Amino acid sequence: MRLSRYFLPVLKENPADAQIVSHRYMLRAGMIKQQQAGIYSWLPLGLRVLRNIERIVHEEQQRAGHIPVLMPTMQPADLWRESGRYDAYGPEMLRIRDRHDRDMLFGPTNEEMITDIFRAHVESYKQLPMTLYQIQWKFRDEVRPRFGVMRGREFLMKDGYNFDLSYEDAMHAYNRHMVSYLRTYERMGLQAIPMRADSGPIGGDDTHEFLVLASTGESEVFYDAAITDLKFGDREVDFQDRAALAKIVEEWTTPYARTDETHDVALFHKIPAERQKTSRGIEVGQIFYFGTKYSEPMGAKVNTPDGEVAVHMGSHGIGVSRLVGAIIEASHDDRGIIWPEGVTPFHCGIVNLKQGDTATDAACEALYAGLRKKGLDPLYDDTEERAGAKFATMDLIGLPWRITVGPRGLKEGKVELTRRATGDSEELSPDAAVARLAEIYAGF
Ligand SMILES: Nc1ncnc2c1ncn2[C@@H]1O[C@H](COP(=O)(O)OP(=O)(O)OP(=O)(O)O)[C@@H](O)[C@H]1O
Ligand SMILES: [Mg+2]
Repeated sequence: MRLSRYFLPVLKENPADAQIVSHRYMLRAGMIKQQQAGIYSWLPLGLRVLRNIERIVHEEQQRAGHIPVLMPTMQPADLWRESGRYDAYGPEMLRIRDRHDRDMLFGPTNEEMITDIFRAHVESYKQLPMTLYQIQWKFRDEVRPRFGVMRGREFLMKDGYNFDLSYEDAMHAYNRHMVSYLRTYERMGLQAIPMRADSGPIGGDDTHEFLVLASTGESEVFYDAAITDLKFGDREVDFQDRAALAKIVEEWTTPYARTDETHDVALFHKIPAERQKTSRGIEVGQIFYFGTKYSEPMGAKVNTPDGEVAVHMGSHGIGVSRLVGAIIEASHDDRGIIWPEGVTPFHCGIVNLKQGDTATDAACEALYAGLRKKGLDPLYDDTEERAGAKFATMDLIGLPWRITVGPRGLKEGKVELTRRATGDSEELSPDAAVARLAEIYAGF
């Protein structure tokens, strides 16, 4: 992409109404535009990050053996009357009436609808286990939408639902989700800690929330410092291997980690004092096991050799749009965003220090073509702006790598490769810069 032809409406001033850094930077970097309280348009740069997050979520869900579907945002009230949640859900549910006076709603979550799909098409236990998921917009009429996309009213969520024959099978599904989530967040450059949670309005027994530590988080969290040393890394996982998954889950759930809702002071104080940590956290996902809560009243049953059985279910969410903000909260400095390589909107920036100079322009074009040939997606600042302004924009929008091209360096056959996170620079030939970036991104 060439900046002169892109749509990147950056703001020079700090927007007055944005209270936290991710919201400020998302507005300043031209990633989103607010349309109503808690409702945003995604502008091109923001959309690229959102799509990258979606892609990682899809890849990791499918790696775990889960099957994508797409349900509508609009749901009939009658389905929710079957589960008893139409009345129970309260004012967070946006209720709508169509021209035939039928009650509808904009889905805040999809347990009822997925159960309806399941009961319509699945009859035999032989079709289990099954986990279906989607990435779809949700609407919750939050009392206080705030912090930009972190607490929106319309927001993008991955929601997955497992259908299993027994408690043991459902716990394997639970573990599959926990392990796949650990991988998912790490690929986004985040450490998200699974914490024992409270089941809330969805209701259930076993549940963990995944929290990213950040001072602006809405939850108060308590944890054993030992948990922050855990890394998933590139270990191979066989998602069918129950024992192996259970072991990974044990590894991550043994150190104390809880939100204020489930915090147990006595247990916490058993940890060595120097490891007792209190912080704030952003909830970026949650997994639930809730048994037959929906399958029983809605008649989602399968035939087995021993008769009909209501399936054991769980639901598992990832806050896809919230993650864009959470990643910025976890990775920025006072000049702007620092995207982790896994989600960056462009792989690198190219800054032309002397636009219009034949040799400099040609070198930038060659770099641009060379990077694209390696499958990389550069953002080339080919505008007439001053160098200082070009650097400020690149720093603000947070591309992890920048190649700076100017006449002085080119005389020696060199360009400069700079890492956004550290500011470390290195002079090397354009070919070497392309090769280096290709090597870096081969891991993502
Ligand atoms: N209003 C919102 N805006 C953006 N993301 C949200 C919002 N509500 C929930 N999410 C994301 O969707 C994920 C799954 O939804 P879930 O039903 O667990 O939310 P929740 O527990 O009600 O969230 P919260 O406690 O933050 O209100 C959450 O972990 C969170 O990351
Ligand atoms: Mg939750």
